[in-house]
Amino acid sequence: MSTLRLPFLSSPVFRLAAALLLAGGTTACNQNAKTETNTTTTAKPEAATRPTPAALAKPAGWWKETVVYQLYPRSFQDSNGDGVGDLKGIISRLDYLKSLGVGTVWLNPIYASPNDDNGYDISDYRQIMPESGSMADFDELLKGMHARGIKLVMDLVVNHSSDEHAWFKSARASRTSPYRDYYYWWPAEKGTPPKRYSTFDVKHDAWQYDAPTKSYYLHYFSKKQPDLNWNNPKLRQEVHNIMRYWLDKGIDGFRMDAFQFVAKDPAFPPMPPVTASTFTNAYNHGPHLHDYLKEINREVLSHYNAMTVAEGAGRNTAEAMLFVDPARKELDMTYTFEGTGVGSDADTYKLTDLKRVYTHWDSAFAQKGWQAIDLGNHDQPRMVSKFGDDRPAFRAPSAKLLNTFLLTMRGTPYCYNGDELGMTNSQFTGIADYRDVAARNAYALLKQQGGDEKAFFHNLARFSRDNSRTPFQWDASANAGFTTGTPWIKVNPNYLTLNEASQDKDSASVLNHFRRALALRQQHKVLIHGQYQLLDATNPNIYAYTRTLGSEKVLVVLNFSSVPRTWPLPAGLTPSGKPWLNNYPQAVPGGPAFALQPWQAVVVALR
Ligand code: NOJ
Ligand code: CA
Repeated sequence: MSTLRLPFLSSPVFRLAAALLLAGGTTACNQNAKTETNTTTTAKPEAATRPTPAALAKPAGWWKETVVYQLYPRSFQDSNGDGVGDLKGIISRLDYLKSLGVGTVWLNPIYASPNDDNGYDISDYRQIMPESGSMADFDELLKGMHARGIKLVMDLVVNHSSDEHAWFKSARASRTSPYRDYYYWWPAEKGTPPKRYSTFDVKHDAWQYDAPTKSYYLHYFSKKQPDLNWNNPKLRQEVHNIMRYWLDKGIDGFRMDAFQFVAKDPAFPPMPPVTASTFTNAYNHGPHLHDYLKEINREVLSHYNAMTVAEGAGRNTAEAMLFVDPARKELDMTYTFEGTGVGSDADTYKLTDLKRVYTHWDSAFAQKGWQAIDLGNHDQPRMVSKFGDDRPAFRAPSAKLLNTFLLTMRGTPYCYNGDELGMTNSQFTGIADYRDVAARNAYALLKQQGGDEKAFFHNLARFSRDNSRTPFQWDASANAGFTTGTPWIKVNPNYLTLNEASQDKDSASVLNHFRRALALRQQHKVLIHGQYQLLDATNPNIYAYTRTLGSEKVLVVLNFSSVPRTWPLPAGLTPSGKPWLNNYPQAVPGGPAFALQPWQAVVVALR
């Protein structure tokens, strides 16, 4: 079995899926495809737009001081009973978002899409997919967020489009199409194209033969996600115009999907063989990547006060800095997958690895640049099931501890929806429960070729992307209050006891702990900007660090284990007063050592 080292798919199940995936499977939603409306001719640059007054009102660097809430629209709130979450559903929950105190929402893709990869295959960058609602709904959502002081960040998915995008439909129809060079083609008369690796293709072949023009096209992801040709200035102008379109609507930034892959040498010179584990590094950082980013900054971003976050940018901290060094005028922040990647080899997970990775990445940005802090997202299992302990006795304290970590580190915290409640991995019982095309196709191949089903399902239960995509658990009513219809993916049965309504009422809940931790961060700049210093690096159970800003110093002590632990206070550290935050009612006894309960998390000022 080959291994897969994709940043967002770094778990064993995806290594399995990579090995087993059937080429470019489609989901049931193809009827939603639309065409890009205003791109029937090649793009012309639009005049750079003047910043809106609202944009001017945002203080420079606002994105360092915000907390981002990642919202997966398909699973958040259904408003019309079709079982799929939608924009009207989110609108009905705006006061909940406000109650969390988050400053920014990152919305996963809601653009027109045949949903081969749940919206990461876009068929029209200026339309809303019908399942999500209409542009009027979007405008209302944005207005409602802004009215509540919440900013909105959207995904920018431009390493590839959908094969159902008007550009690709035209490009594949004729070698003389004006859109032909928006994509990469290898004419069959030149023979077999040079080997390139695809993650979502069953044969891992990134070249798909297309009969109408007797050519192959390139797709690093599924064959329904053809790669866009960034060497073509017209394509780049199209992207700039798409960005302006959304920024002019008033959105506050972009999460740049798979951006590390956009730059490619169009000659496709021979490369050393690429495998699942070398894919990310091999195709990362192609020629002119930074030129493209500088161009985006010059043409678009410099005219707005928008934030940008690059997915998995850079193979190491030095490369990551190239994206976010302010002097280079490219992007604002990056997030590494090394953090969420820890623990993906489930049986070898060690807290010391987590500490090492987060500390290393913090030190890289100690002087300049900025990073995101996250422990989960829509491509990862639930953080409490992976890094905490989701058994009933420990779920709440460990979820509180993980949220304490996210909200007391240096960098912008990204909270994935549901993690503020401590939502857990799904409890699926068979392949029929899974929706992710990767899981389903991997299983189909397993059935064809034979293999260890028990191990397969064990792996899926721990690492499937569907773990984090089950419906948001609002209350104890049918389907957790997510839908009145049949949810597109099963609700986790633990919604009867684990839900927002019951936690909202309980001041000791995970939800209210999250709100307190977030408010604390907003009150104390030391928690945002303060220097981070790891303590007791080799301790296998305790993650402890200080944050220091001027004369203010704070200690964070996290017992990452399900048993009580004693942690001797390092010499010279003297706690001052009551803890700022504690996920247990019991005070931490003072003196030379902390006596910590299982998963106890304490934040306390130091003298
Ligand atoms: C990263 C996204 O997070 C993931 O969900 C998607 O499959 C790939 N990029 C391809 O767009
Ligand atoms: Ca719906």
